[in-house]
Parts: sequence; structure tokens; C-alpha cells
Amino acid sequence: GGDAPGTPTPPANSGTLLLGVATALTGGQATFGISTRNGIEMAIREANAAGGVKGQKVAVKVYDDQGKPEEAAQAVTRLITQDKVVVILGDVASSNSLAMAEKVQPAGVPMISPASTNPAVTEKGDYIFRVCFIDPFQGFVMAKFARETLKAAKVAVLQDNKSAYSIGLTEVFTRKFTEMGGKITTTESFSQGDTDYRAQLTAIKKTQPDAIYVPGYYSEVGIIARQARELGIKAPMLGGDGWDSEKLFELGGTAIQGSYFSNHYSPDNKDPRVQKFVAEYKAAYGGVPDALAALGYDAANVALDALKRAPDTSGPAVRDAIAATKDFPGVAGTITLDDKRNAVKSAVVLKVGDGKAEFVTTVNP
Ligand code: PHE
Repeated sequence: GGDAPGTPTPPANSGTLLLGVATALTGGQATFGISTRNGIEMAIREANAAGGVKGQKVAVKVYDDQGKPEEAAQAVTRLITQDKVVVILGDVASSNSLAMAEKVQPAGVPMISPASTNPAVTEKGDYIFRVCFIDPFQGFVMAKFARETLKAAKVAVLQDNKSAYSIGLTEVFTRKFTEMGGKITTTESFSQGDTDYRAQLTAIKKTQPDAIYVPGYYSEVGIIARQARELGIKAPMLGGDGWDSEKLFELGGTAIQGSYFSNHYSPDNKDPRVQKFVAEYKAAYGGVPDALAALGYDAANVALDALKRAPDTSGPAVRDAIAATKDFPGVAGTITLDDKRNAVKSAVVLKVGDGKAEFVTTVNP
């Protein structure tokens, strides 16, 4: 507006570009959010050290949604209306991202989920993106691993009926494993936060499965593994990215060792780009970065790259720039966003060892 002669033009570097994050920093998904935030903050520090974006410093506002969809929805409303962020990053658990996308899409603010894999998240609209693969692929990867590598004929499933992620993965795994000639002996359910799984595990034990697919989050999976072993179940457990947390080893102890899960990345990857990230993350935070740290870092870098390329920082301009992301070098794989705003990337299968997940194999889409 007001370009009257004599009106001073504000310097190009007057403002701060603010990114918004809603994720779980407390509760049963706490390590998801803490790692994600670390990765995001690391990317922002690097961007600022390199001179910022569009001549401006970048900052981030983070809200703890406690792993609850209602809290996640409220947090993004605050990020949009009060904080006026240019891009939203989050969440990890798909149920939370679904609730966020409902608010974000009508507001016209771009959102990038680092790690939500349920297909419905990006189907919420053209402002919603993700930098990870989706569950139809992840479910296929574990069905194939169970059938071809472990030679499992019969698998039981134990799903979290409070989680869009778990319900979706159960459906894909069941369909793919059956198509590959395997048999699902039974599908049992629990609700996130439960602590006693003995009734479901007893029902599972009776069906004598070769393996048990548990597409849940680390906080429940660790306890499930212990109770399964107490009941004399020896079959390995199989899972997805939701197992990824340093807490899994603590909660699951020896009971979870020898089980397998699919994931986005392995810190053991020899790629120099990955090793540089692992070394710098360790120096900053003191631990090995998990997949959430890597995906948080990648999501933030994709957002920053789009902000640099966008003609301005309005919602539509930034959305179009994110949508054009192609061959972006992430630490959890190269990112090209497809016409459904998803990244198509390979998955890894990891084996739970003593305090560490060991790399087993990579599966390409
Ligand atoms: N993919 C999970 C979901 O959609 C979240 C997750 C990603 C958890 C990566 C751990 C690691 O709910």
C-alpha cells in the first residue's frame, strides 16, 4: 500500500519468518515430538547461520499437543490466528495430523507433516504435504518381509483402535499378506494408553501364529512385548515406524529383542549426507537421531527451500513452491512430491537388538 513519495521503504530484512510446530512433547508419544523439534531447530539454526531466508531470520513457535487430536487442532488454530506463521510443521501421529489438516486447509496455510503416514492426511486438501512414504507401502514392506524373509505362513494382528495409523496399517498388512498366500489367524484390538493386553495376547496365543503384527506406538508396544513373553509367546513381533523410539528398548527390554519393524531411515546409512547429519545431531543433542529427528530436519528444510523459491510468503505462493519440490536431498531419502503431495521413498527394515535397532534391509517402492 502507501507508496506516497517520501514514505520510507521498510528494509527487506526487517521481519522474522515464523514457522509453527504442533507435536507431542509430553505423554505416550513424547519422544516423537522431542526428536522432531530437535531436527526442525537444527535446520533453522543452519539456515540462519547461512544468512536466513529472503533476507530474514527464521524462528519457530512450538506447541505441545500432548499427542491428542483436539489439542493439535487448537494448537494450529493458535499458530494461524495469533502467531501468524507462514508454514506449519507437524504432527507425527496421523490422528493428530488429520485433526490439524481440518483447520489448516480452510485457512490456506501450508502444512508439511514430517512423519504421518496415513494416506488420508494429505487427502484433506491441497495445502497439506508430507515428506515421508505412506502406509500402503509400509504395510506391503512388512507383509513381504514376513512372508518372503521370515517365511511366516500365519500371522496374528494386534491393532490400536484409537489410531488412524494403526487401523490403516492393519488393513494394508492383512490384504497384502493374504494376497501373498499368508493367513491372518486373528485380529485383536486395544486402545492407546491401555496397560493390560493379556486377554488379547491369550486369544492370539491360541492361534499359534508364526509372528504377531503390532502396528502401534512404542509406549504400548514395549509393554505388549513383555506381556507376550510372560504368557509364553515366542513368536517374533513385527511393526511399523511407530516403534521408533529410544524408549522402546527400555520398555520392551529383552522381550522386544529379535522383533522387526519398518522405518524411514537408519542412522547406520553410510551416505556422507546421513553421517554428517548424525554427527552434528549428536554434537547438538547428545544422542543418535531417530527417524523423527531426520524427518523433522527434512520437513523444515523442504519448507525453507520452498520459502526461498516462492515469489512471496503468502499461503498460495508457498503452497505452490512446496508442491514443486523435486529431488530434494533429505537425510531420510531424496524427496520429490507427487501430485497427491506425498513423497515416494524407500523403507528400511530394522531388527530390535540390545538398546539399538539394527539395519536389515532396504525396500524400494
Ligand atoms: N507414521 C506414524 C503415524 O502416521 C508416525 C511415526 C512416524 C512414528 C515415524 C514414528 C516414526 O502415525
